[in-house]
Amino acid sequence: MSSLTEEIQILKKEKQAMILAHYYVPDEVQEIADVTGDSFYLSKVAKEADAKILVFAGVSFMGESAKILNPEKKVLLPDPAADCAMAHMADVEKIRAMRDRYPDLAVVCYINSTAKLKQYADVCVTSANAVKVVKALPNKHIYFIPDQHLGSFVAAQVPEKEVIVGDGYCPVHHQITAEEVRQAKKAHPEASVFVHPECPKEVTELADYVGSTSGIIRAVAEDEAKTCLIGTEMGVFYELKKQNPEKEFYPLQAEQCCYDMKKVTLKKVRDCLRDETNEVYVDREVSEKANRAMELMLQLAK
Ligand code: 13P
Ligand code: SF4
Repeated sequence: MSSLTEEIQILKKEKQAMILAHYYVPDEVQEIADVTGDSFYLSKVAKEADAKILVFAGVSFMGESAKILNPEKKVLLPDPAADCAMAHMADVEKIRAMRDRYPDLAVVCYINSTAKLKQYADVCVTSANAVKVVKALPNKHIYFIPDQHLGSFVAAQVPEKEVIVGDGYCPVHHQITAEEVRQAKKAHPEASVFVHPECPKEVTELADYVGSTSGIIRAVAEDEAKTCLIGTEMGVFYELKKQNPEKEFYPLQAEQCCYDMKKVTLKKVRDCLRDETNEVYVDREVSEKANRAMELMLQLAK
């Protein structure tokens, strides 16, 4: 055990803290976390956690979401500059215009969004529950923000609704191409392909499985293929290899890296826990409004 790891373990006990880590943060941070998971699982844990301090090893919208769901809790971010580009890719004026145009509209906001955007949503979703939540809504018209690809993926599963999608995208998944999938399949004809729904439609169409990070981890374990081609951020390889040491994993593309997630280092986890710095604050009014959309998600996704 490194001295940093030891220090974190001691601090965690001393301060009754809990470390939550997303599957995309560096391996050594996932290793010291109390819980690792996808955005949906981590939201549920954050809501129910009774630790005094939550350290959220992830990007800033994840820390904000934990604070919104558990406002009395002290939530710390190892690096508040670790941000998700897509979280900002929606426009309040456009939301207002859509509401004027469709009186029955439900604004469905992907959890990968700022608290400021979430406050205008009727319900939040994660990649693990988006289809289920949208299906459960009584509204015919849905405005899905910010991710165009997850929005289109959901739209295809709920043909009974009219889903209008935003124009946001994840820079990491958006750049994966169908040609890269074809090349990877050519190099590994025996492999199964697993991709995240933030990938473009041409990519998801070529996959054997499309789902959230935890969905991919589950699907790989259930799949008979010994070789797996993975279309999501590289951090997920840590859990995949841990759970399936007999399988081989290849990325669809060399650039599958979210540099913001990689800003979350062990040293920053230690520093923020030791000094209780980078506490997450969300304006009370914003938080209360965003919380309604988050709570409805948890209810509908049960
Ligand atoms: P999950 O919903 O699978 O956790 O994905 C979050 C994310 O940021 C994908 O880029
Ligand atoms: Fe955001 Fe993409 Fe990074 Fe996920 S991988 S946190 S969607 S930039």
